[in-house]
Amino acid sequence: MKTSTVIAAFLAGGVAAYPNMDKMTAPLAAKAYEQARKRAIDPKAPQGAGALPLVPPPFDAKSQFVSTTGDHKWIAPGASDQRGMCPGLNALANHGYLPRNGKATITQYIDAVTSVYGMGVDLATFLATYGAVIDGPLLSWSIGGAPHTGIGGSHGNYESDSSPLKGDLYQYGNLGKLVISQYKELANMQADADEPNYNLEVLREFRGKRYQESIDKNPKYVYGPFTGLLVSQAAFTFIYRFMANKSSEYPEGVLDKNTLKSFMAITGSDDNPVWTFGHERIPDNFYGRNDLDAYTIPYFNTDVLYIAETQPEILAIGCNQNKVDSFDAIDVNTISNGAYTVQQVAKNPVCFATEFALAELPALTGLSSLVLSPLTKVLNSVTSGLNCASIGNVNTSALAVCPGLTFYGGPTAPVAKGAIQS
Ligand code: HEM
Ligand SMILES: *[C@@H]1O[C@H](CO)[C@@H](O)[C@H](O)[C@H]1NC(C)=O
Ligand SMILES: *[C@@H]1O[C@H](CO)[C@@H](O)[C@H](O)[C@H]1NC(C)=O
Repeated sequence: MKTSTVIAAFLAGGVAAYPNMDKMTAPLAAKAYEQARKRAIDPKAPQGAGALPLVPPPFDAKSQFVSTTGDHKWIAPGASDQRGMCPGLNALANHGYLPRNGKATITQYIDAVTSVYGMGVDLATFLATYGAVIDGPLLSWSIGGAPHTGIGGSHGNYESDSSPLKGDLYQYGNLGKLVISQYKELANMQADADEPNYNLEVLREFRGKRYQESIDKNPKYVYGPFTGLLVSQAAFTFIYRFMANKSSEYPEGVLDKNTLKSFMAITGSDDNPVWTFGHERIPDNFYGRNDLDAYTIPYFNTDVLYIAETQPEILAIGCNQNKVDSFDAIDVNTISNGAYTVQQVAKNPVCFATEFALAELPALTGLSSLVLSPLTKVLNSVTSGLNCASIGNVNTSALAVCPGLTFYGGPTAPVAKGAIQS
């Protein structure tokens, strides 16, 4: 199916008309949406017009302040310290909130991202466990990369195409480099603003541009059910949700250019920005999310729907066919053996993505069900919490049409060419 057909199906199915939430949808997100649509949308909401939260969250300077001194002083990584594609995790390691060597246990990841940024325990457990199992080796997994391990060794499994600032592997032969033109494109989207704020409204437009840019420039672009729909979307929403500075005036947060640059390891002038690998930094006087306003999985799911409201193409999974602008969408109904319709995916993308991961894990990893059990347990709790329809079997031949797809395939399988970068 071609992209346009799929998008037309989404639109016909009610993407534009949501929220028509049914039992597929996270109850929390559904309720929030109904309320959001009933109230007058504030065009000046710091998070972006129409985006959650409905009412400003509480702000408590003392508990939200993030220390950048003493044990948490910024120190540049040393030669043997691992750093990778995730600016949020690199910054935590540079400030000693994660071990400075860049390898941490599941518990250390959960503690760090919940306490510093205010990620929900559900989302943190999901992301950290997925990393430990998929990026291996279960314990003390790396935010950098080595063959088969670490974020950098996981192209197509965790690390994905059309990221905000990092380049696509098969466009640049490198998945870890920040592409200055991508940064400039984002920065310029607020060039005329009196007070630049890279909020969700800005980021969703940027997300649409990046999706199209990958189609136009990466011959092997893959936008997969899990890596595309879920992981790459998080890479966009996290920028505002976690990097925005909260205050009593703006408890939802404002993300100005200096704060964005600091988290993204960018220095230099507007005309000549410079990126330094591994130098991500939490700015001084930074305030994270309030505990009562944790960024949970239902919250994230709602943000994905917010992106899809103006960029419905992000709901279309698929891939380029070895040449640019040859994007073929994959029919979600076929790939899920009838478990999901396009409309159901459009209503609850996180459900589809997580169920897909669950169904595909054994083939994806080549790991035994015993080794996989911590991850299946976590994913099952996510899907039962969201009331997701399960996918018994993935139709893998529907995926085989993607020449850029490089599944992990087990500890001895080949690694995607160029996937380990420093
Ligand atoms: C345990 C928690 C986390 C895990 C396991 C994780 C993992 C990842 C992975 C695998 C990627 C690569 C995805 C891609 O290729 O697009 C990534 C990218 C990214 N992460 Fe994280 N992450 C976590 C927490 C965070 C937090 C707290 C933030 C924000 C403060 C964050 C911000 C980002 C951003 C912005 C990108 C995209 C970078 C770019 O291309 O510009 N992440 N993360
Ligand atoms: C965050 O906001 C507070 C209150 O406006 C301000 O004092 C502080 O400097 C800001 N921090 C950053 C990193 O911009
Ligand atoms: C699986 O996908 C392939 C390729 O899209 C398709 O030809 C086949 O009919 C599908 N199988 C089922 C059982 O739907």
